[in-house]
Amino acid sequence: MEQKRRKFLKIGLLGLVAGIVKPVLATSTEVSNAPLKTPKLIGKKPIVISTWNHGLAANLGAWEVLSKGGKSIDAVEKGVMVTESDATNRSVGIGGMPDRDGHVTLDACIMDEQSRCGAVGCLEGIAHPISVARAIMEKTQHVMLVGEGAKKFALDHGFSTIKTPIPAVKEAYLKWKKENKDVFKKPVINHENHDTIGMLALDSAGNLSGSCTTSGWAFKLPGRLGDSPIIGAGLFVDNEIGAACATGLGEAIIRVAGSHTVVELMRQGHTPQEACQLAVERIISKHKDLTGLQCGFIALDKQGNVGAYSIFNGFNYALKTSDEEKLVDATYNRKW
Ligand code: GLY
Repeated sequence: MEQKRRKFLKIGLLGLVAGIVKPVLATSTEVSNAPLKTPKLIGKKPIVISTWNHGLAANLGAWEVLSKGGKSIDAVEKGVMVTESDATNRSVGIGGMPDRDGHVTLDACIMDEQSRCGAVGCLEGIAHPISVARAIMEKTQHVMLVGEGAKKFALDHGFSTIKTPIPAVKEAYLKWKKENKDVFKKPVINHENHDTIGMLALDSAGNLSGSCTTSGWAFKLPGRLGDSPIIGAGLFVDNEIGAACATGLGEAIIRVAGSHTVVELMRQGHTPQEACQLAVERIISKHKDLTGLQCGFIALDKQGNVGAYSIFNGFNYALKTSDEEKLVDATYNRKW
């Protein structure tokens, strides 16, 4: 899909003086249109946030745990399992799009309040990669298993199998194969091509956990892993500070260790909103050409403050507390 990018104004001294633009942007040639404000939710726990509008249903799954005083690690697993089970979702779980050769390979990771973590990559034919990631975290001395080894681990531990691609996805794949000769063409990752679900939760006891699961880049090269199974890129949790997860083009997120960067920026005193913006700006600074490059972060700190920011417009996230349940449009650096 062709996307047009708007031209942006050079930053003027007036804008800086007026405080419209943060000093950190002073050397940029483009204006950020994001207001630098963080929704204040201090003391509001439990709370769960997750990427994109598929997060609304996932948050309800997490809420079943959090509302009963349950642990954030259980909530973030149960929450994203809702999305993994949704056969209509084309970027996560059983309904996910396949790689170039027609194989649906799933990636996921999970991290708890003790900085324990587990990850799985290139997993085929298993319904819940997030639960496999958790089992790797809890039952092995490793953090990440991939491919055939990951599948063997899942089967040995009784995880249920599923035949993929499901018929609707197979049909879409065959159509793509017929029509699209340029297998290396970048897909447009935006609100019409939903991406990873990343989820962050703060439980009643004040503990943070996170999860992240995806089928990755549609029609990717076989064997490709994006950011989603990589701790520090797709997800990072530090229970002293906060948690962050990413969505969008994984290759760009990995280059800046995106989610870890967001958490470290919070450690340095930035709000979750500022931290997400600064991490996105770092990605922008590493790329000469932003065509088709959408990336976004969501973040949650230890006090229950949230933030979200993306390169382009169109990214949103779902938020749930005891008195709020809503979809929020993330602020962004520029329009398509
Ligand atoms: N963010 C998902 C991926 O790039 O695979």
